[in-house]
Amino acid sequence: SGGERTGALADIGVIGGSGFYSFLDDVTEVTVETPYGPPSDSLFIGEVAGRRVAFLPRHGRSHHLPPHRINYRANLWALASVGVTQVLGPCAVGGLRAEYGPGTLLVPDQLVDRTKSRVQSFYDGEPLPDGTVSNVVHMTFADPYCPAGRAVAVKTAAAGGWEAVDGGTLVVIEGPRFSTRAESVWHASQGWSVVGMTGHPEAVLARELGLCYTSLTLVTDLDAGAETGDGVSHEEVLKVFAANVGRLRTVLFDVVGALPAAQDRECLCTRALDGLDTGLAAPS
Ligand code: ADE
Repeated sequence: SGGERTGALADIGVIGGSGFYSFLDDVTEVTVETPYGPPSDSLFIGEVAGRRVAFLPRHGRSHHLPPHRINYRANLWALASVGVTQVLGPCAVGGLRAEYGPGTLLVPDQLVDRTKSRVQSFYDGEPLPDGTVSNVVHMTFADPYCPAGRAVAVKTAAAGGWEAVDGGTLVVIEGPRFSTRAESVWHASQGWSVVGMTGHPEAVLARELGLCYTSLTLVTDLDAGAETGDGVSHEEVLKVFAANVGRLRTVLFDVVGALPAAQDRECLCTRALDGLDTGLAAPS
């Protein structure tokens, strides 16, 4: 899978969500082509805490891509191709419980996929655009997030004064509409914690490339079943995200500095494809 990536431009990737279009001040813009088409935008590469970081605005810098139109494969491939080994995926979510109100930071440990139209694998069992053939691969995905990245995120946020909820289930809906009250009540009744539109298939595609992936969800609203008002609006989501993006950026900077060096990773993420016959060339 991973292989040796020499001349890496970056080690850590950050995929910014709604309202999160720039991360670093002093950046080099790098345009990347992938076998899967164009990523959401260029990569913006710079330095944080002595680490090389590649930032990618998930929806494009002018928010022109709705969640179901994002080229998730191209995004993850692009990050891997510049040498990224660990990915942080901040995203706006709705809270499914009254106690997870706006401003809550929740670092999920589980994921439920309720999307409908998204390509969620690099292993299509079809020839790749470059002529090689990818095989059929069934990867273990019981624990979708990097345990080391999660631990660093929770600890680092608390040290910075933002007590994060450690664990919980992120349910990802197809969107772009928000949930009905009945859907929302059902999601909550399953014991799921927060609801978003972009957490899937980002995590699984990262794992397929042997990358560590940590989801940091910022609650911007109570979802339709948990609130008593008129329902969620995009305006509300953007407003709350904007009010919190400063401290989220600070946490992300701290997390970047606290992540293990690429060669010191001890999690299983790097070995997700060991023993599987993938036939897929690593991005380089
Ligand atoms: N993103 C932010 N809030 C959301 C919600 N309530 N449902 C789905 N995605 C969201």
